[in-house]
Amino acid sequence: MDVLSDISSLRERLKRESSVSLVPTMGGLHDGHLSLVHLARMKADCVVTSIFVNRLQFSPTEDFDRYPRALADDCKLLEQWGTSVVFAPSEHTLYPVLQEFMVEPPPLANSLEGEFRPGFFRGVATVVLKLFNIVQPQIAVFGKKDYQQLHLVRELVRQFNYSLEIVAGETVRAPDNLALSSRNRYLTPETRAEAARLYQVLAQVKCQIEKGNTCFDDLERNATGILFEHGWKTDYISVRHAHTLAPAHEGDEDMVVLGAAQLRGTRLIDNVELHLES
Ligand code: PAJ
Repeated sequence: MDVLSDISSLRERLKRESSVSLVPTMGGLHDGHLSLVHLARMKADCVVTSIFVNRLQFSPTEDFDRYPRALADDCKLLEQWGTSVVFAPSEHTLYPVLQEFMVEPPPLANSLEGEFRPGFFRGVATVVLKLFNIVQPQIAVFGKKDYQQLHLVRELVRQFNYSLEIVAGETVRAPDNLALSSRNRYLTPETRAEAARLYQVLAQVKCQIEKGNTCFDDLERNATGILFEHGWKTDYISVRHAHTLAPAHEGDEDMVVLGAAQLRGTRLIDNVELHLES
């Protein structure tokens, strides 16, 4: 496995590869990321995993400085899982000059995550586009854990006519169903024991919809109430159309229940998909 930090050596290394799949990450790797590497390996001969904590997608009040950075450990895991090349650029390599051109995402980027993290998807879309241009993969793998991000990356590729296949990986969970996340390491033993409730309330909303309840507002309010009773501050619980992420309507078949909430300072997000048979 090669660990490269500059663009010209990466391009030189990839010259001999006929098919390349890219797994973009910010490091602090866990089994969720590694499942994407596994998927990427099944899709192409050469897997490039990028590790870059992208300042552009963090607001000044967010955790950019304390975000987990563990390059040596990450590389060990990536080698075991069959990554061919780790691309771990410095900030200066990716942003040698002030990044003034930005990818302006569609209005959807201002709701859900975007409502609570202004500028987040602009930063994500901009770095993802740069990574696509640098690596020029045929395939890129993203997790469903960040469902809105996956949706917007798909739109980015479509609307900019990229010739690139986006592959989606299922969310990997702990035994109690907490979605794995680099930010889970901010949890204390106490909050870790409570953290799986976010998944539980989303799964309860799914279950109610499957039973025929279409009062989505009530379901969202009820889920928020349960979280509140257990010490959470909910940013949103929202039932959406799975393909457009527009608010769900009665009659929709493919839906996703998305949620984000804070548990004593740690912000967690998760989602569950559901399909109603017509
Ligand atoms: P990061 O949070 O490191 O996530 C990298 C990839 O891993 C994303 O596609 C994310 O959806 C996926 N992922 C995270 N947790 C997962 C889990 N439990 N199961 C399956 N996949 C999971 O998302 C980012 O980085 C950044 O925004 C990035 C796309 C790299 C741009 O900076």
